[in-house]
Amino acid sequence: MKKNIKALILSGGKGTRLKPLTTTIPKQLLPVANKPILSYVIDQIAEAGISDVGMIIAPETGNLIKEFAGDGSKWGVKITYIMQADPLGLAHAVSTAGEFLGTSPFLMFLGDNLIQGGVKKFVDQFRSDDSDSLILLKSVPDPRLFGVAEIDRNGALVKLVEKPKKPKSDLAIVGVYLFNKHIHSAIKSLKPSWRGELEITDAIQKMIESNRQVGSYILQGWWLDTGKKDDMLEANRVVLDDLLKREIQGKIDSKSRVAGRVEIRKGTEIINSRVRGPVSISEGCRIVNSFIGPFTSIGARSVVEDSSIEHSVILEGCHIKRIERLEDSIIGRACKVIYDESSFRNKKLFLGDDAIVEL
Ligand code: TTP
Repeated sequence: MKKNIKALILSGGKGTRLKPLTTTIPKQLLPVANKPILSYVIDQIAEAGISDVGMIIAPETGNLIKEFAGDGSKWGVKITYIMQADPLGLAHAVSTAGEFLGTSPFLMFLGDNLIQGGVKKFVDQFRSDDSDSLILLKSVPDPRLFGVAEIDRNGALVKLVEKPKKPKSDLAIVGVYLFNKHIHSAIKSLKPSWRGELEITDAIQKMIESNRQVGSYILQGWWLDTGKKDDMLEANRVVLDDLLKREIQGKIDSKSRVAGRVEIRKGTEIINSRVRGPVSISEGCRIVNSFIGPFTSIGARSVVEDSSIEHSVILEGCHIKRIERLEDSIIGRACKVIYDESSFRNKKLFLGDDAIVEL
C-alpha cells in the first residue's frame, strides 16, 4: 500500500558560519541564482506530491521565514510552523515536531540543502517499499568532513560514522531523509553528543541497531549544502549553470552586449556594458559601463558602475562603483563598495560585525 507522507523542513538553527549575512537574513532565505534556497526546497516537496508541511523555525528568524513562505498556498501546500526554542540538533527538531508528525511517515529536508532533480523519485520509492527509513547518500571526494554511511550489497545501511578519520566509504549523508514513526523511539533514547546536540545520525544508528530496515538511495546529481561562504558561491555557480534559461525582460542599450544564458528581470537597464552568462540580474538594477561575467547573481535595485564582477553574489540594493575584477565575493544587502580616486592609497571602511575584507 502507498504511504501518505508529510514533510518536515528544518529552517531553524543559528547560521553562525554564514555571519554576517545571517545576522539579518535566515540562512534558508539567502538567495541562490536570485531565489531563496527555501523556495527551491518547497518547490521540490510540492513536486513530490506532499502537501502537509511542517516548518521548524527559530525565535530569532521565524518571523522572516513566516513572512516569506506564508501558509504555503504559493506552492499549493499547507504549512504548519513549529517553534524550536533552541537549536539543540536535527533530532531535537524532529522531537519538537512530534505533535505535527504524529505517527505519519515523513520526509525531512534541511532548509539550507539543495539537490539536483528534486526528491520525487526518492519519495516514491519510500512510499511503495516497506522500509522504516530511506537515507540519501552522495559520493564525495573527502568523506572525512561528513557523516559517512557504510552500506551492504543490497544498499541497506550497516553503520553511520560522523566525520570519520578513516572513512570506510565515500558516501556522505545528504540533508534529505525519509522516516516512519520508529524514528521517534530512537530519538527518545538519545543522549546529547559532544557538541551538545541530539544528532540525527545517532538516531539512525539506533534504528539500525534495533534491526529496523534502513535503506539508502545514492544520489547521482549534485548536492549543495549552503552552510559556508564558499558553499554559497558554489551553489550559485551550479544552479546558474544547470537551471538558468535566457530571459530578457529589462532594457539593453545599443552599446551593450549580452551573451549566453542571461536573465535580466523587469525594470533593469544595461547601459554601455557587457554581460556574459550564466548571469542573473534581478529587478530594477542599473549596470553602467561595466562587465558582468559568468556565475554572478545581482539582487534587486543594485547599481554597478565602471566595474567588472565575476563569480559573485551581490544582494539587493548594493552600489558597486569603480571596482576592477571583483571576484569570488558575497556582498550583503545595501552595501556600498566604491573606489575613491581622490583618497590616494588610504582605504576607508565602515564595516559591520563579522565582515571579511580581502584587499
Ligand atoms: P546546520 O547547518 O547544521 O546548523 P546551523 O544552521 O545552526 O548553522 P551553523 O552550524 O553555521 O551555526 O543546520 C542544518 C539545517 O537545519 C539548517 O537549515 C538549520 C536547521 N536546524 C534546525 O532547524 N534546528 C537545529 O537544531 C539545527 C542544529 C539546525
